[in-house]
Amino acid sequence: MIPAPHLILSWILSTISSVTSAPASAVTDSDQLVLGTKQPRPLVIWHGLGDTALSSGISSFVEDIKSIHPGIFVHSIQIPQGGSLDDERRAGFWGNAEEQGWAGCEQIASIPELKGGFDAMGFSQGGLFMRFYAQYCNDPPVRNLITFGTPHFGISALIPCPTPPTLSCLLAARAARAGIYTPYAQSHIVQAAYFRDTERLDEFWDVNTFIRDLNGEKGLGGDDGDEDDEKGRNGSGLGIEGLDNFVAVIFDQDRTVSPAQSSHFATYSPLNKTVIVPMTDQPMYIGDWIGLKSLDEKGGLALEHCPGEHMDLGGEGGCGERMVRDWVGWKE
Ligand SMILES: *[C@@H]1O[C@H](CO)[C@@H](O)[C@H](O)[C@H]1NC(C)=O
Ligand SMILES: *[C@@H]1O[C@H](CO)[C@@H](O)[C@H](O)[C@H]1NC(C)=O
Repeated sequence: MIPAPHLILSWILSTISSVTSAPASAVTDSDQLVLGTKQPRPLVIWHGLGDTALSSGISSFVEDIKSIHPGIFVHSIQIPQGGSLDDERRAGFWGNAEEQGWAGCEQIASIPELKGGFDAMGFSQGGLFMRFYAQYCNDPPVRNLITFGTPHFGISALIPCPTPPTLSCLLAARAARAGIYTPYAQSHIVQAAYFRDTERLDEFWDVNTFIRDLNGEKGLGGDDGDEDDEKGRNGSGLGIEGLDNFVAVIFDQDRTVSPAQSSHFATYSPLNKTVIVPMTDQPMYIGDWIGLKSLDEKGGLALEHCPGEHMDLGGEGGCGERMVRDWVGWKE
């Protein structure tokens, strides 16, 4: 999200220099010789707020994944497809989150290499879009979903603008402050689509659709008062219990996402912002509205930790690399 490309970059640069002694091509050849037709599962990445599909940070990250898992196919989602770098950066702040989600579905469905299923990795805000794909589209299906610092239960305060701030970010923040739960903000500002103010939950349930429905909370608020809605789970689509694994990574020093524990489906208590309600106490988990509990019970939920600040992947041999080795590139 607020990317720390220098951190990703430093990891990549050091890793790339460490593999120069063993050329990647040699590794690929012997790999194919031994394993025959078995290929690492493809990977789709959805970048974070303010970043672009092929920024230097993301490109280097992808190169590093390819050196760890020779032969892997990697696609980085670009919104809008074919847009300029400015269009892409702007789309992280401005736009209709659901439309961006559907655009991602189309983009993924159009890529032949992904037809047999793939692993999905979302950086911060990008992790919500990946979950949107898994819950509403999922054709071809996501197998392992890995999210880094993704506010799965929303944010209670805006993400701070980067230093120096970009105009897109400043304008989006100003518009958001003017009225986050207005129909305008909800359909035009991406962060508004996952802004879940625990002190204004009735308004949130009334007007929000994106993260409310991703978490099966439709019907808790106004809506149409349909009795069926009160059961929860309505609107959450396919749910996520069909994933092989869901790896949700929290950054232990995260001061960007509020609360940071949202990366693990925790929220502030509705009554008291000094209290955090853990995932297992959330009605959404207890009632299994999106299949999170089912997935957990079958051993498919991994709540992982990275030690640093938001999106600090930890350099060579660090947390980002560990996740790539553990959860990506499985041969099949
Ligand atoms: C879901 O909500 C819609 C309208 O919002 C309603 O018509 C439908 O019956 C609900 N379905 C369930 C399973 O609750
Ligand atoms: C919030 O919770 C904390 C910790 O339990 C408690 O000390 C504090 O008094 C609570 N505040 C309110 C307003 O209830």
